[in-house]
Amino acid sequence: MAELFRPFWWHDNALHLIDQRVLPHREHVVACRSVDEVAAAIRSMQVRGAPAIGCTAAYGMLIAAQQAFAAGVRPHAALAAAQAQLDATRPTAVNLMWATARMRQAAAQLDGAELIERLHAEADAITAEDLAMCRAIGQHGVALIPPRGRVLTHCNAGGLATAGYGTALAPIRTAHEHGRPVHVYVDETRPFLQGARLTAWELQRLGISLTLITDSMAAVMMQQGAVDCVIVGADRIVANGDVANKIGTYGLAVLARAHDIPFYVAAPSSTIDLARSGGEQIPIEQRDPAEVTTCGGVAVAPSGVAVANPAFDVTPARLVSAIITERGVITAPYHEALPRHGGH
Ligand code: MRU
Repeated sequence: MAELFRPFWWHDNALHLIDQRVLPHREHVVACRSVDEVAAAIRSMQVRGAPAIGCTAAYGMLIAAQQAFAAGVRPHAALAAAQAQLDATRPTAVNLMWATARMRQAAAQLDGAELIERLHAEADAITAEDLAMCRAIGQHGVALIPPRGRVLTHCNAGGLATAGYGTALAPIRTAHEHGRPVHVYVDETRPFLQGARLTAWELQRLGISLTLITDSMAAVMMQQGAVDCVIVGADRIVANGDVANKIGTYGLAVLARAHDIPFYVAAPSSTIDLARSGGEQIPIEQRDPAEVTTCGGVAVAPSGVAVANPAFDVTPARLVSAIITERGVITAPYHEALPRHGGH
């Protein structure tokens, strides 16, 4: 089935992005022609979602090499600087560091036009592989959704957050493509509203039935028996199976356990960080308090109020019923299953 949209693409020597800050009101495209512009787009969440951040950072590395080449300087120092700059934009999403490191490795031993060609091919490969991994997640995960399944999801782990197909939304899209009825409860996902603005927009475009709820309604939906399973994405899964994902995910996992509802995490192997043994080692991004004190640009709190804005939380592995990757569905004990399964 053809992709309905791509969140980013390379054209005319520039990285083009659908600006996710202004969706669903406007479908505005921005073009990034420098590393600074790519880093700013990631930091400001014009592009977001761990796999999409990784792919776009890869193109940022290509831009760094091209600019160094045009200026007649050796590109390896420029690539090292670009890697440090891009990696610092969003510290929790491990796909970012994975992609920039992969680009550095692809460039090693090369120079000149050959290096540029190689980096272009590598960024394209990272993107194509992400699309393929997400489709495979859909194929493996669809079996977990019961007939006429009602799935609750959080944030946006759909096409916009990846190269075009999604992770948490992949089993849902696959069920829909197979003609199976499926209904999605979409958490609005305060403070940035990725659920209300992005997941609702995507599902509507795909013709998939949905109900938008505020985050605080998830408990009562589960209590009323309206939810068959929860599927979320991940920004980083560490070796013991602990999962960092959008703030609010941990609360949903606790609720799911309290109501005896399966809680699934869907992510490609590029999200699996085997170098860290437990969730306490995951760096959690702290974002601008203005995201909490305003909503759609309107102040919703008194000025000067103290604010916390951790962008992610960590769900302990014991609350995760299964992890769906491109290679299959794995269950606890994750510290044994994950290293066998793959990651980096
Ligand atoms: O802050 P965001 O919007 O980048 O957070 C995104 C998420 O938490 C997603 O669930 C995760 O990156 C997986 S996207 C396929």
